[in-house]
Amino acid sequence: MSKQILCLPGDGIGPEIVVEALKVLDVVKSQFDLDIEVSEGLVGGASLDAHGVPLTDEVLAVAKKSDGILFGAVGGPKWDDQPMMNRPERGLLKLRSEMGLFANLRPAMLFPQLAEASSLKHELVAGLDILIVRELTGGIYFGEPRGVRTLENGEREGYNSYVYRESEIKRIAKVAFEAAQKRGGRLTSVDKSNVLEVTALWRELVTEMGAADYSDVELSHMYVDNAAMQLVRAPKQFDVMVTGNMFGDILSDCAAMLTGSIGMLPSASLNEANQGMYEPVHGSAPDIAGQGKANPLAQILSLAMLLRYSLGEIEAADAIEKAVSDVLDQGLRTGDIASEGCTQVGTTEMGDAVVKCLQVL
Ligand code: NAI
Ligand code: MG
Repeated sequence: MSKQILCLPGDGIGPEIVVEALKVLDVVKSQFDLDIEVSEGLVGGASLDAHGVPLTDEVLAVAKKSDGILFGAVGGPKWDDQPMMNRPERGLLKLRSEMGLFANLRPAMLFPQLAEASSLKHELVAGLDILIVRELTGGIYFGEPRGVRTLENGEREGYNSYVYRESEIKRIAKVAFEAAQKRGGRLTSVDKSNVLEVTALWRELVTEMGAADYSDVELSHMYVDNAAMQLVRAPKQFDVMVTGNMFGDILSDCAAMLTGSIGMLPSASLNEANQGMYEPVHGSAPDIAGQGKANPLAQILSLAMLLRYSLGEIEAADAIEKAVSDVLDQGLRTGDIASEGCTQVGTTEMGDAVVKCLQVL
């Protein structure tokens, strides 16, 4: 049976970069004989303009039936005065919650050709390739009870609960172990088990799973404060990192900054059925929309992740990543990653160049 990809380009530069990813998909489909059908829908401001809501029930129903969603970006000044519940971003949040996308995969890769874009020393980050697996639907951001209460002496007190069930820990750990198996075979679980009981349970379960089911993965544990320090000191020591919602939020933004190039970073959010939504880390970049300047590589790398994690097409994913690297070797750069001695190109030229590299692989 053919696999279904739903394409949701969204707003701003979204449609411009998704077109380039679809060109790349066409090439790998014929090269690797992939049986994939692509459909397209509206999301965000585009959907608001057409239907008055940022995500229609029809599009949501198609999303739930598809194997993977290739998402562009949503939002822009045109819709900034919409009420909160009707903002373009709600379309994205609704997809995440309705589909139960609990596992957020955020790679921080720095192609060696772009080492000068990073704020850190070249040798620290050149060739960096980390994957942070962040739990996205639990932990302290969602735990109950929560709120602000007034104490007997009249003083107010804010409180949140850091809660994880065994089943929630196990399902995110499973995603991380399996990702490690598909990559470099090493997993670092990040917690604060010396202080927080919930993360002591986390460490216990991850350790058990490692011993029982994933003896091929080299597992280590690290406290979150040390992990933050190590990420900045020697980031290349990591392969896959797995952690809870809040620690993952902070560590993944920190890791993204190591690379210094937002136009290069893809991401994935997966559910228990291994369905996933794949999107660039960046937004809709209204400042450059419609000018043919946007870097399509984060979107193209998001497609590679879709093929790798939701369709299991590892070879096609590898080929796309190799083609992106080859294009950088040729010295082609969009404005956001421009550097001296390189050739500056636009969105379409960059997409075309990736297609060309794939065809000679
Ligand atoms: P942004 O990521 O859209 O842009 C930040 C800066 O990076 C801008 O200068 C932009 O031109 C540049 N940039 C981003 N992607 C680029 C690319 N592919 N190539 C070249 N340059 C690129 O973040 P910003 O400006 O804070 O938000 C703009 C809109 O996007 C807002 O409406 C925001 O709500 C929305 N947004 C949507 C997200 C999503 O759909 N997942 C995520 C983040 C923001
Ligand atoms: Mg964040």
